[in-house]
Amino acid sequence: MKTELVSAPLSGMAVDLLAICAVDDQTSKDKNALPQPVLLTADAAVQAAAASVLASGEFKAGANETLLLHAPAGLSARRLLIVGLGKRAKATPHSVRAAAGTAVRFCKPRTLRNLAFTLPTGLDAFAAARAAAEGVLLADFDPDTYRSDRKDQGLHAATLVTVADSLATAQSGFQEGIVLAEAQNFARVQVNEPPNVLTPTVLGQRAAQMAQAVGLKWEVYSSEKLHELKMGAFWSVAKGSEEPPALIVLTYEPEGYNAATYNGPVVGLVGKGITFDTGGISIKPADGMEKMKYDMAGAAAMLGAMQAIAGLKPRVKVICVVCSAENMPDGKAYKPGDIATSMPDGTKPGKSIEIINTDAEGRLVLADGLTYARQLGCTHLIDAATLTGACVVALGMVNAGAFSNDDATFRQFEAAYEKTGEKFWRLPLGDEYFDLIRSDIADIKNTGGRWGGAVTAAEFLKVFVADTPWIHLDIAGMAWIEDSRPSIAKGPSGVAVRTIAEWVRTFAV
Ligand code: BES
Ligand code: MN
Ligand code: ZN
Repeated sequence: MKTELVSAPLSGMAVDLLAICAVDDQTSKDKNALPQPVLLTADAAVQAAAASVLASGEFKAGANETLLLHAPAGLSARRLLIVGLGKRAKATPHSVRAAAGTAVRFCKPRTLRNLAFTLPTGLDAFAAARAAAEGVLLADFDPDTYRSDRKDQGLHAATLVTVADSLATAQSGFQEGIVLAEAQNFARVQVNEPPNVLTPTVLGQRAAQMAQAVGLKWEVYSSEKLHELKMGAFWSVAKGSEEPPALIVLTYEPEGYNAATYNGPVVGLVGKGITFDTGGISIKPADGMEKMKYDMAGAAAMLGAMQAIAGLKPRVKVICVVCSAENMPDGKAYKPGDIATSMPDGTKPGKSIEIINTDAEGRLVLADGLTYARQLGCTHLIDAATLTGACVVALGMVNAGAFSNDDATFRQFEAAYEKTGEKFWRLPLGDEYFDLIRSDIADIKNTGGRWGGAVTAAEFLKVFVADTPWIHLDIAGMAWIEDSRPSIAKGPSGVAVRTIAEWVRTFAV
């Protein structure tokens, strides 16, 4: 799909569909007050074309509500689509992202190939253009890659249209939006792959390919490196599969970086890359097990964030560590009762971990990933993982869980997700939770019982970050969209890519 931003009269846009945003201007609290839909454009031709239908009261400008006019009078466009943003007071760039997505997903099943989307007046031009670019690209993604009857419904061109005054500002927002959404779609493509295609080795190859393409340094290791680094926790999980694990390290160095003189922060991105989670010997029930191909969504989020960072070029060093393996039951698989020993932490020996449940594998691979990231010099850490069903129970599929050992770092994260519109909810940590993962025989155990499972998992990870400021994202409920929405297809969401990239930017020196 070709995407561009132009400033041009709307009446001359000779496209299959011209989309325009509307808000409800009704401010009365009276329940019987009629909606007052208003188009967010100063264009007289579009206003005239829509006047009678707006006056009819048939369209209320609710969020993502659409109204279609064929052969609109006085316009070159073959169709005019009005997309609601909801109440004016609640309309934000996040509503624009959804509206742009809704316009794209309106076109796709109708095989309309050319879309022009009008950037609404009255909102920040940079943020609106960025959000619209994201909305368009994110909506163009469909997960039906392997259908032999897949119809080519892709858009050929999406043009964002703005007014001349805003063009320069909108252009920079537009470019950021493209970088961020392409990175998020990269993550979605990987998460969507079936587990027989996307093994840890293949994830390593795709990471390397991407890194090469965007100019990141990359290293991909396997079993030998795990042994060399004494990554006993990661290896416990990996050893039950015929598929070798992958330890993926991508590095972003800002322009003019000099290892000898750099004294800025080094941000570490650590991802859980379980390409299939059977549960291992503590095997999962058959029902829904196919979904566990998305257990590498944390890894995909980090790789996507690295792609975005390479495009946005913040002045801060970033290291991404992905721990990828399959969690399988096998003659060589780890067992409940086993003791695994995590990677040594400098001169300190690794932690002994009593395995209670082999299905709590994510925290084991991350334990070594977090330790390794610190060893590579990271001063700040973030991890993302489809870590616990308990987090899904707690927050549903609306918010991802977020944890932090440092309030200032978390505030930077809050600022980031307010910009991207992704939803995270902070959950607590605390010594009382840590008590639940104490073991009689080892330093810690890998599960903390039934209650507070998202928190005990986070407490487990916290052992391996030591004093480093850290954020943990449990994206188990958010990595896969169960039902299609007007603006986005069901399937892999690519959650957290944009927010992690945005958070990294807050460290730029
Ligand atoms: N990958 C799962 C968590 C998960 C559950 C992701 C549902 C997405 C949807 C993780 O490895 C797991 O199995 N966690 C266990 C931990 C338990 C054994 C302590 C869980 O949540 O049941
Ligand atoms: Mn598991
Ligand atoms: Zn898992």
